[in-house]
Amino acid sequence: MPRNTLKPLVVGNWKMNGAVMARDNVRSMVSMLASMTPECDIMICPPATLIAPLCDVLARTGIAVGGQDCHTKSSGAHTGDVSAPLLRAAGAVAVILGHSERRLGHGEDNAMIRAKVAAAHNAGLTAILCLGETLHEYEAGRTEDVVAHQLAASLPDGADCANTVIAYEPVWAIGGGRIPEPRAIGAVHQSLRAALSNRFSARQAERMRILYGGSVTAKNAGEILSLPQVNGVLVGSASLRAGDFVDIIKASRKLKGIRAKGGLQPGAIRAKASS
Ligand code: PGA
Repeated sequence: MPRNTLKPLVVGNWKMNGAVMARDNVRSMVSMLASMTPECDIMICPPATLIAPLCDVLARTGIAVGGQDCHTKSSGAHTGDVSAPLLRAAGAVAVILGHSERRLGHGEDNAMIRAKVAAAHNAGLTAILCLGETLHEYEAGRTEDVVAHQLAASLPDGADCANTVIAYEPVWAIGGGRIPEPRAIGAVHQSLRAALSNRFSARQAERMRILYGGSVTAKNAGEILSLPQVNGVLVGSASLRAGDFVDIIKASRKLKGIRAKGGLQPGAIRAKASS
């Protein structure tokens, strides 16, 4: 497989954290980034209540903001939920969907996730679709089958490289400090790209970003990002510390020369939504 030339995407998933330190943390991250030209696209996905204030802080920085979940419907009697159009109106350009903490913690199945991805697309958001095997499935050697099934069942037909990013996140690697062997990450990404190529087209598959997520740190980011099959990282706990997140962003700079500068960039990621 030829080396991938897509510009890497580094996404911070704050999960249910951030209220107190959000602005200060993001301001110090922005000032650390001011003296460098990142070689990647950057996105932060805070809790829904922080999307609008973060968009204000990040205006004109080129750093995008995304949500962490959305409802399948665009409006209605759904107490406590947030819709894709509401995320978009708050300034988000993307939304994480199918995260294992939603699949396992909220009983979301592939059919529901597929409807959510379609809702995100309809609202003009890029869907960051998460897939990943449990420890049990990993130990049984079923990883590629599991993620292939999740991909087929949770990605709607309208998906393309501009409105969708795939994130391979082994459930057992999230928050646990353990990651798969780099070779194994590359193999899973390659199998996902082959499945995308079969379903859509080789051209779409080559252009669709496939991120790795699960215990990404400032220490291991360089090795993960240097894998030719990996187009970026989805970062949980390390994204809550400005210094660590900036070091992960810097790790993608070291790839200059390996990847074509200014590679293909899905437009929806960079453009800040107008409300
Ligand atoms: P982690 O989380 O980096 O804390 O493992 C990643 C994620 O859940 O997206």
